[in-house]
Amino acid sequence: MIIAIDGPSGAGKSTVAKEVAVKLGFSCLDTGAMYRSVAWQAVQLGVALDDDAELGRVAREYDIEFGHDEGEPLPKRVFIGGTEVTSAIRTAEIDKAVSPVSAAPSVREALVDQQRRIGNAGDYVVEGRDIGTTVFPNAEVKVFLTASFEERARRRVAQNAERGVGSTDFEEVLADLRRRDEADSSRATSPLKPAEDAVMLDSTGLTQQQVVERICDLAQQAR
Ligand code: DC
Repeated sequence: MIIAIDGPSGAGKSTVAKEVAVKLGFSCLDTGAMYRSVAWQAVQLGVALDDDAELGRVAREYDIEFGHDEGEPLPKRVFIGGTEVTSAIRTAEIDKAVSPVSAAPSVREALVDQQRRIGNAGDYVVEGRDIGTTVFPNAEVKVFLTASFEERARRRVAQNAERGVGSTDFEEVLADLRRRDEADSSRATSPLKPAEDAVMLDSTGLTQQQVVERICDLAQQAR
């Protein structure tokens, strides 16, 4: 079974997706981490962020892997080309670089292929922007998770503070969320939009537990 969770930055997709996966005994795939990893690699190589062909080459040639820590139910570590980038992909620099990289059609083509291969190997919660619309249009459960801008910015600041990486300035984070929403929604390839058959879930004012339970209920009904 595939549970697709789409939505904008800071809606809580990653946290919720992981919780749902643990509850249901599924694996979990964070596709944003894949775009971030390609962005990081492109920056290291000095690839121009508007060079579709070169960015596509990076996405095809550098393997992305997720690593488990012992005793952890889900992978927490991310590697590209054998280098660990778990923290390096969460910086403000990569927050910016990932928008043009994720808009590059050749990058999307390469990563969507990999995402399908990974997800088709078992029961997965897959989270991103285009999972229900493009990557797994036949997903048994599709959720579009949103929250107000302010709520999303508050959560992102808390997450950055906890990770010790990325901005903890509310106004800066809010401005970045607005910029990324605009970029994600207006790009030509796989813009951020809910699948027609997605369940819309606004998490403003809901606890994480309530959101997780709602999605687990949907999975139960789809079985
Ligand atoms: O979820 P996130 O903030 O880690 O995602 C990082 C960026 O990657 C985000 O700005 C949009 C892009 N992205 C995408 O275009 N498609 C996906 N399936 C996942 C992320």
